[in-house]
Amino acid sequence: FKTLDDADLQGRRALVRVDFNVPMHDGQVSDDTRLKAAVPTIAKLRAGGAKVVLLAHFDRPKGKVVPEMSLAPIAPALAKVLGAPVAFGSDCVGPAAADAIAAIKAGDVLLLENVRFHAGEEKNDPEFAKALAANGDLYVNDAFSAAHRAHASTEGLAHLLPAYAGEQMRLELSALDKALGKPDRPVLGIVGGSKVSTKLDLLSHLVTKLDKLAIGGGMANTFLFAQGHEVGASYCEKDMAETAREIIRVAGQNNCELLLPIDIVVAEVMQPGAAARVRKLGAVDEHERILDAGPETVERLNKAMDASKTLIWNGPLGVFEMPPFDKGTMGAAHHAAELAKAGRLVAVAGGGDTVAALNAAGVVGDFTFVSTAGGAFLEWMEGKELPGVAALSK
Ligand code: 3PG
Repeated sequence: FKTLDDADLQGRRALVRVDFNVPMHDGQVSDDTRLKAAVPTIAKLRAGGAKVVLLAHFDRPKGKVVPEMSLAPIAPALAKVLGAPVAFGSDCVGPAAADAIAAIKAGDVLLLENVRFHAGEEKNDPEFAKALAANGDLYVNDAFSAAHRAHASTEGLAHLLPAYAGEQMRLELSALDKALGKPDRPVLGIVGGSKVSTKLDLLSHLVTKLDKLAIGGGMANTFLFAQGHEVGASYCEKDMAETAREIIRVAGQNNCELLLPIDIVVAEVMQPGAAARVRKLGAVDEHERILDAGPETVERLNKAMDASKTLIWNGPLGVFEMPPFDKGTMGAAHHAAELAKAGRLVAVAGGGDTVAALNAAGVVGDFTFVSTAGGAFLEWMEGKELPGVAALSK
């Protein structure tokens, strides 16, 4: 695909799809990671003399104007991050958008209202895409984290205007390629989280790609149960046991070594500060719940990191939001961060919970790359084509 280095920018209206679907609290942006991620592209466009017109969605208003889902509060937050004024336009198409764009000068930045206020956005309606395209001379997609959606502003526009990948898009794609496309081997994966059922495609794909795969979090309980171990009162998808056994079988066929817990941390209640005990596999009482990976499991995982060149991580190993059940996730996060800092491991992570866990561990900056994406990161790891990326390549 083409990048901004290939674009003629001076005086041109650049429609830039960004992902400003950011956490908000009391009408204020509570995590500006995604705003910061858009800065390199915006800066490059401004330096090139383009009019920077930002398109974004917020939340899921389902094609209606929902005032609480307005992007208006994002404009001042972005201005702060950017250190430059950001104008706001009350609609992303039609005369309001055209007038707002006419009112800014080359090098200025304008944020237009939520594209999902129009039903045509999520339907990828050609007429709506045309209405968007009417206000631009070129299209830049910098929203890797929304690239799994085939919407008008993430996919349709790429067919209507000269289309370029933004800087964050490039960064995400090259980091993910390094982690899973053409990784230095051995490559180790960590997949955690509660459900096998939501990560089935991911697990099935990764066991054909990786040298080792560690499974943690609630989903590990399902694997332990499938192998005949007692899981007590733990969260466990018993109806997925056969599927788990199939994943174990496919892993074996593909020489992917599965690392399932060898010890676990249990408690009778899932509460912060609850009395936690370390148990061997099989030694879980019927009232106990498995809430974290045990120390031997973490030690073995850390040794697997020592022996690997690349790590790709999605999903926590335990209930990391609730000490003392954060120890497994924190232990592994700190170890990965140290190896990455020392240049001994390419450590890549993504997904909402994972990033929250790495933030809690204070190691986001030490990882080689932490994706801004949730769903898109997962779909990419599942080996699926992302419509927003595919459209840029055509
Ligand atoms: C995200 O926050 O992961 C993206 O912005 C996509 O949002 P969506 O799941 O509402 O499409």
